[in-house]
Amino acid sequence: EDYDDYRTTDVLVVGSGIAGLAAALGAAREGAEVTVATKATRPEGASSWWAQGGIAVSRDDPDQFKEDILTASADTADPEAVDVLVDEANDAVSEVLVDTLGVEFDTSDETEAGAAEASADDAEAFDFGREAAHDEPRILHVDASTGKAIHVPFLNYLDDRDDVTVRDDTAALELVSHEGRVHGALLEREGDVTPTFAGATVLATGGIGDLYTRSTNPDGSTGDGIAMAALAGADVADMEYVQFHPTVYPGSEARSASKRDGEPVESGDDPDDGPFLVSEAVRGEGAHLLNGDGERFMPDYHADAELAPRDVVARAVQTEIDETGEVVLDVSPLDFGGEFPDLAEKCEARGVDWESGIPVGPAEHFLCGGVDVDTRGRASLDRLYAVGECSRTGVHGANRLASTSLLEGLVWGLRAGEDAADFDPAVVEAPELLDRDPALPDNFAREKFHRLRRTMDEYVGLRRSPDDLGRAQAVLRRLKGEVDAYVRTRTARSLYELRHASVTALLVTRAAAENGESVGTHNLVEEPAPSRAD
Ligand code: SIN
Repeated sequence: EDYDDYRTTDVLVVGSGIAGLAAALGAAREGAEVTVATKATRPEGASSWWAQGGIAVSRDDPDQFKEDILTASADTADPEAVDVLVDEANDAVSEVLVDTLGVEFDTSDETEAGAAEASADDAEAFDFGREAAHDEPRILHVDASTGKAIHVPFLNYLDDRDDVTVRDDTAALELVSHEGRVHGALLEREGDVTPTFAGATVLATGGIGDLYTRSTNPDGSTGDGIAMAALAGADVADMEYVQFHPTVYPGSEARSASKRDGEPVESGDDPDDGPFLVSEAVRGEGAHLLNGDGERFMPDYHADAELAPRDVVARAVQTEIDETGEVVLDVSPLDFGGEFPDLAEKCEARGVDWESGIPVGPAEHFLCGGVDVDTRGRASLDRLYAVGECSRTGVHGANRLASTSLLEGLVWGLRAGEDAADFDPAVVEAPELLDRDPALPDNFAREKFHRLRRTMDEYVGLRRSPDDLGRAQAVLRRLKGEVDAYVRTRTARSLYELRHASVTALLVTRAAAENGESVGTHNLVEEPAPSRAD
């Protein structure tokens, strides 16, 4: 059927985390007129808002920072991409975050008075945090709520610019592509679908937390950008490298069960019974992990103990939970209440007595792979870009170093935005919608999401066996077939989210099945999982 209307824009950015906002800023500064389409509820629907630990910068020794990134990745990161990230880190942080947005990173006590003048190069002024696998403290932060402190002023700043329009409650359903070139996307708002034709399209849709029952991502993290790009024919890479964060307070059983059952959980909400991340910065300050027998176990797993690379810690925590019943984070070696007041408050709101240890376990946290892009964020299709978590720049390889994701989003967002500003939009034929009935059958999305998550939890989690990956592919292929039968006959957003989630889940599972080497976050075991999802 024909569309009632269409729009044009120089640059269409899909997603409103730090990467999308940086892309919008980069393009607008080059003179482009930019549209940001976002389905994320403001401001907490974007993963960036939830980032705790902070943003790593380079101090005296940039080569050591590069080395730490490569080591954490088990030497699978791309050195050229790592050079770009580290070489541009300080300028991007100083110029955009400190000078333009006025973010006030925490300073050390002695220099509190000079906070306003501090710049990212001002190595003495800041209270640099330390996290796992970093050779030195180099993480700028605002308490353990760094994401909020960056994201909110960034949104406000762009709202005030005439050359950037942020379209809220707007989901991208499908890319418009023609002869190998991308010309924008079909955007849905309140059931109406409108093509937006763009000179260039930048995907910044974040992660894949909705593919797993337990994740640190806000709801709605359904891999939209990755799936849309892959369906349009763009290359994706490193999809098997799904990072699990080792220390997530699991939240109440009732809430986890409701997500498992496919009940909608409000996007980005933070109810007093919900799960929450306990930042790696807490271990950086000296907290220990204790098993159900009260024993500190990390020194038995790695020479760096609690500060070993994240994949090592996550697997060790899961092993100890399986063998001893629980793992808690012992915060008695530090002044937890004084140093992490926001986390102490979250514990108290849930009745967790942090002085006796915070119960923690692994949860899906970050996809290291995604749409394969170059150092300017360019994907394999003409005029398509991807930035932030939905992209694969090569910076993370098989395991991302802590506090490099906001940085990657910022650096690649600016670079991609600048590059994308060069093209004029063309109006081409958009994919046809067969919009006979906007609604889906009752419980359709809920039941399918439930099956998808159980499959990913059980077969494509921290430990994977070839048999399980084969089983998961069979379940997911069936599921995708059931979803595809409805595509373009309905405009329900939940249908497209389900489509994107099932395509992305298949890409993760297929990549995992094709990679026979255990490395970083991709850990192969001989034995299939003990319980069965199908
Ligand atoms: C954390 O604060 O532990 C998360 C940091 C990150 O994922 O980079």
